Amino acid sequence: MSKHDESELRARFARVGQGHVFADFESLDANARESFLAQLQAVDLDQVGEQARLLGESVHGVMPGELSPPGLFPLLRTEREKRRADEARRVGESLLAEGRVAFLLVAGGQASRLGYDGPKGAFEIGPVSGRSLFEIHARRLLAVRQRFNVAVPWYVMTSPANHAATQSYFERHRHFGLDAKDIRFFSQAMIPAMDPEGRILRAGPGELFLAPNGHGGVLLALEQSGALAESGERGIEHFSYFQVDNPLARPADPLFIGLHAIEGAGMSSKVVAKRDAGEKVGVLGRIGERLGCIEYSDLPANLREAREADGQLRFRAGNIAIHMLRRDFVSDLTRGGLHLPWHLARKKMLVWHDGELAQRDGIKFEAFVFDALGDSERSVTLEVSRAEEFSPVKNARGEDSPESARADLCRLHAVWARSAGLELPSPDAGGVHPIEIDPLIAEDAAQFQSRPHTPIVTDRGHFYVHEHR
Ligand code: UD1
Repeated sequence: MSKHDESELRARFARVGQGHVFADFESLDANARESFLAQLQAVDLDQVGEQARLLGESVHGVMPGELSPPGLFPLLRTEREKRRADEARRVGESLLAEGRVAFLLVAGGQASRLGYDGPKGAFEIGPVSGRSLFEIHARRLLAVRQRFNVAVPWYVMTSPANHAATQSYFERHRHFGLDAKDIRFFSQAMIPAMDPEGRILRAGPGELFLAPNGHGGVLLALEQSGALAESGERGIEHFSYFQVDNPLARPADPLFIGLHAIEGAGMSSKVVAKRDAGEKVGVLGRIGERLGCIEYSDLPANLREAREADGQLRFRAGNIAIHMLRRDFVSDLTRGGLHLPWHLARKKMLVWHDGELAQRDGIKFEAFVFDALGDSERSVTLEVSRAEEFSPVKNARGEDSPESARADLCRLHAVWARSAGLELPSPDAGGVHPIEIDPLIAEDAAQFQSRPHTPIVTDRGHFYVHEHR
């Protein structure tokens, strides 16, 4: 960078009260200076200013009187709803067949709770096959390609920490049989963390303390990477959004796609009934007029426990982080920057302070994709069965762990196998029959019954694949 550009950059930081980041600049060698300047140049100082102002505001909790549950397209349907569901399935299938749907996977997280050193998607979860989360998702998209004979555009959001590893994982596995040119990887943005006074933190004398901007950053990253424009050129109208951690996610669900499209919704969601009042998931609800997701800790205890006349929880629409997003809705939300609120995460951080590394109070800023629901004039909230669609891998042990997800996959596939009249392998000590069905054959019991399949019997259990003749 020229001397002139450097002094302009210094002046810009100084003008907004962030000049301290240059404190140790003179001690850096030429290479370190260049890379630090490049880092600084990428910082959006308007955004930093907006975030620093948030620190000064007192935090308002959600007022209970303002909250109401969302309207649901329920799992138990009236005759009218069944007819609507049939129509929606037809519309969803046409959209898939015409190649109007792209798939959008968020995989930028660090897998720190799981304690796995690598992209979470590479974690091997298949109870019998040992397939990774990425491979299981890929097989579902392969099923779309085979069934409708269309290209399936897949946008995969990584973060700088796992971008290269994710890409090379896909390459090593030959993109799981998908067409490499249909898969586009793009990284989410990293933004500076701050101290409680709104001063940008550093991780070293010539390095900012950067953190991922949250899964809401996917919308901006889609736009800034050029993927949004490219998807428009391909004729894409909707994105099917899902998280890497849920092996039961069904991103190509014609019912959900169709309901969302018929409604003319900007963004729609799938939910499952909360297990009990204490389950720590966000719930979808209306805050005043706006639809949104209310985090477990923000839902007052009396509302957490509140019940309908029929005994169901009033706020039961548990967020499973599966959405449909209309392409032009994403364009509107990202025009001139990301129009989503910031959530603040306060933590102790190891930062560069007064010439040494020290533990200090810091704040990270994250955008959450579900906040976009409030900007969507119309929206569908589809209730689905937890057993069929949600079993995330979050923790190393216990609830939402590899063990629970594997058992849930086996239980679901055992139901399909039984309904097809098959004999199950013997159960393990926990009563779980080790059985797995390739997503390429079937996404539900009816498909499994109607399509040819054959078991591969291994010492881990039965793995059903497409019948080879
Ligand atoms: C999230 C939802 C919660 C929902 C649950 C369902 C939030 C705040 N809460 O919880 O309401 O019930 O999922 O499973 O989101 N990711 C990125 N970049 C980031 C941060 C996350 O790509 O900067 C991705 C992760 O790779 C992962 C997903 O987003 O696929 C979810 O992140 P995670 O932090 O695990 O969400 P939860 O807190 O478990």
